[in-house]
Amino acid sequence: MANGVKHFGLPRQDREYPEPGTVLWLLGPTSAGKTTLAMRVVADLRRLGVPVILFDGDEVRGFFGADLGFGTDSRLRVVSVLVHLANKAADAGLHVVVAALTAGQDAREHVRENVRNLTIGYVACSVETCAQRDPKGLYRKAISGEIDTLIGYNSEYRPPDSPDLVLDTEAHSVDELAARIVASYVWN
Ligand SMILES: Nc1ncnc2c1ncn2[C@@H]1O[C@H](COP(=O)(O)OP(=O)(O)OP(=O)(O)O)[C@@H](O)[C@H]1O
Ligand SMILES: [Mg+2]
Repeated sequence: MANGVKHFGLPRQDREYPEPGTVLWLLGPTSAGKTTLAMRVVADLRRLGVPVILFDGDEVRGFFGADLGFGTDSRLRVVSVLVHLANKAADAGLHVVVAALTAGQDAREHVRENVRNLTIGYVACSVETCAQRDPKGLYRKAISGEIDTLIGYNSEYRPPDSPDLVLDTEAHSVDELAARIVASYVWN
């Protein structure tokens, strides 16, 4: 062989390799069900042999530690890290699911402008139901005045303008929503 490169009989691929993965970005208010749904989707896809990774906003927040506050800049910092991680994993060929509040307009624009192969899924749930679920006790703390930074209670959680998917966790079970999402990967 002229250039000394050995061939193993594999067909030449014109496409990019590895083929980049997709990014499903789940956003919605606290207790809407982002983490629950994301974990379920990732588990189901892995069982089907689809390479997929989950990045959760809480994980990134935990990495920064208690120093990180809940102001706009701090929240944007979390989203920027998630965007970076999601792109890197997708470049390596993994499908990515992100579960993060992503409440601010600037954070949402950052996601739209910087994430490739992006699908935005709005995990929708009324504040009343979120406050009843409240697995982390955050609504309880906000109601008692212990915290005043809960978006959805202390300030409005604005629904995203044009999500690609609306995943209503009041109207549909985790089973139903996960099956709908998983089907979109399997058939694509
Ligand atoms: N259809 C549904 N889909 C997802 N979660 C549901 C659904 N119905 C009820 N739940 C419950 O709602 C709660 C949602 O909690 P979860 O931690 O997933 O929310 P989250 O959106 O990740 O909140 P946070 O922003 O605080 O991380 C869980 O207790 C879950 O069992
Ligand atoms: Mg969560």
